[in-house]
Amino acid sequence: MAEKKIAIIGGTGHHGSGLVLRLAKSNKKVIIGSRSAEKGKRIAADLRYKIQTELIEGTDNLTAAKRANIIFLSVPYEALGNILQSINPGLKDGDILVDMIVPLSFEKGHPIINKAERSVGEQIKKIVSEISSEIEVVSGLKTIGSKKLADITQPLDCDVFICGDDETAKEEVAKLLTKIEGGRIFDAGPLSNSEHLELLAALAITINKIYGISDACFKVVGI
Ligand SMILES: NC(=O)c1ccc[n+]([C@@H]2O[C@H](COP(=O)([O-])OP(=O)(O)OC[C@H]3O[C@@H](n4cnc5c(N)ncnc54)[C@H](OP(=O)(O)O)[C@@H]3O)[C@@H](O)[C@H]2O)c1
Repeated sequence: MAEKKIAIIGGTGHHGSGLVLRLAKSNKKVIIGSRSAEKGKRIAADLRYKIQTELIEGTDNLTAAKRANIIFLSVPYEALGNILQSINPGLKDGDILVDMIVPLSFEKGHPIINKAERSVGEQIKKIVSEISSEIEVVSGLKTIGSKKLADITQPLDCDVFICGDDETAKEEVAKLLTKIEGGRIFDAGPLSNSEHLELLAALAITINKIYGISDACFKVVGI
């Protein structure tokens, strides 16, 4: 089977760029998507230089989605609708969208999840199912902070939870993320559990704040 191509929409940002670095460091080719092809190319050049690799390239979001089969979404929740609309013509049967989004806002300095009717993963699935029932959605990487993800001098040293309704899609994403040094991958159940990951992300931010750190994350014990 041909190797899946990887794109990270919003790979120019805090969280996405860390994933770009981790995947490229594990020898995977990564296409960064941006609203601006010029910005995508510029950030790709910066990240290539940072880890001395040729495995990263940058382009606009639609081109990135067209060229990839595993498409990570690492954009602010508020941007999700517009982003899905802009990449829609590039989505194909068999594509896997990986939702990294936490619909976060702050009330009196405390992180809260913008309570929608469904988790972000389910919202994405509902929207893309109107394009094709053959596009799967997996949620993951929501509970790891961007600083930790970007610090490629250290193994990740965090558990990575992924959830989704399609076992094959989940396995594909797990197979890819397993390449990241120091990140154990856990199947966290169906896509509806995306909501739990979003709540855990808010908890990590609270712990960071109380303890004056930036890299709180979660590990499963007893396994
Ligand atoms: N930061 C964290 O520690 C962390 C942890 C867990 C989960 N997350 C989640 O990961 C996602 C990305 O977080 P981030 O901190 O990387 O965000 P970010 O740096 O603010 O944004 C990521 C990228 O999204 C694009 N973008 C920004 N505003 C946009 C808009 N209004 N419309 C369309 N695209 C827009 C930008 O790319 P272009 O300008 O190149 O298009 C930007 O580089 C969020 O949903 C966040 O909840 C973040």
